Amino acid sequence: MAIRSVIRGVSHYVPERVVTNDFLATKMTTSDQWITERTGIKERRFVEPGVSASQLGVKAADSLLKKLYIDPKSIDLLIAATLSPDYYFPGIGVLMQRELGLAHIPALDIRAQCSGLVYGLTTVDAYIRSGQAKRVLLVCAEVQSPVLDISDRGREMAVLFGDGAGAILIEAEEGEAATAKNNEPGIIDSLLGSDGTGAEVLSLQYPGTSTHEFVSQALLDQDAYHPTMDGKIVFKNAIMRLCETAQLILARNGITPSELALVIPHQANLRINEMVREKLQLETDRIFNNIHKYGNTTAATIPICLSEAQAEGRLKQGDLILTLAFGAGFTWGANLVRW
Ligand code: UT7
Repeated sequence: MAIRSVIRGVSHYVPERVVTNDFLATKMTTSDQWITERTGIKERRFVEPGVSASQLGVKAADSLLKKLYIDPKSIDLLIAATLSPDYYFPGIGVLMQRELGLAHIPALDIRAQCSGLVYGLTTVDAYIRSGQAKRVLLVCAEVQSPVLDISDRGREMAVLFGDGAGAILIEAEEGEAATAKNNEPGIIDSLLGSDGTGAEVLSLQYPGTSTHEFVSQALLDQDAYHPTMDGKIVFKNAIMRLCETAQLILARNGITPSELALVIPHQANLRINEMVREKLQLETDRIFNNIHKYGNTTAATIPICLSEAQAEGRLKQGDLILTLAFGAGFTWGANLVRW
């Protein structure tokens, strides 16, 4: 007998305001054609002013707990993942603990950017397998729209990102350990990595403790309080790490890509996901993408995909699935899961 981590359910929430490529083209020199061809994105969601990441996370989590008839007080660990927290500190974990009416449980914030879900699920699995938690809420929430530079200067990044949140409930269950070869449900294996030599390639460096003044007129004058990226370097690293991670985790579990029911990759660029799909020789219906509707919602992309895949009947009980993510840091990872 073993303790395995079983996913009980997933929900998501996206703000109502749809921001189309054509709308962005009124704010900067870009076009629907450029954005669609280079990224696959047609539109994304932006919050109304004043709506924060924790508020989106609470909406996703609240709908999940209601759907599953879960008493918030029965949750014994909350893990939150975001790169766009409400405050510099504290993190969004405690804000959601308060708003959701959870007990005085540990509230842990993860800083792994676009890999937030895979880092989060791996952490949940470790807590559950070691007997330290039995019912865990994992929430990934992002509000990036206020930080983007919606102008010609920031156009390379501004067209990519959107706001949204996803929540997953994971429970401890006693039974045979889930493996890729049996039909037991649960998180089978996880693989994480990082390479800090890429830390500044995709980053939002200010405000931060690297500058003594924290906020300065000089940095304001340079418009430095926006994220920056060298897209080509990120693109190349993403493809390399995503392919390598998928191949490693599948090999060490003795399976081939054709045995996966569905791959749920991070949604950064449709061309990245297409290249990964080709490398793994997956048929088009074996990979889930919704980047055309939401853009890149960073940590929230994978839970939003899981939630939509389930709602569309593309993710069913017993399916063997692989999550795959790469993001700022650089960080990357994968989870092999029997749904
Ligand atoms: O989630 C974390 C991970 N993030 C990513 O994985 C993002 C990875 N990178 C990418 O997705 C791509 O590199 C981009 C979508 C950001 C850019 O695509 P690209 O095919 O690498 O374009 P590029 O860098 O070669 O830019 C081509 C041209 C440039 O103009 P010149 O120098 O050729 O005259 C850019 O200035 O496109 C220009 N450009 C734009 N044009 C219209 C850059 N952004 C835009 C824009 N609209 N929004």
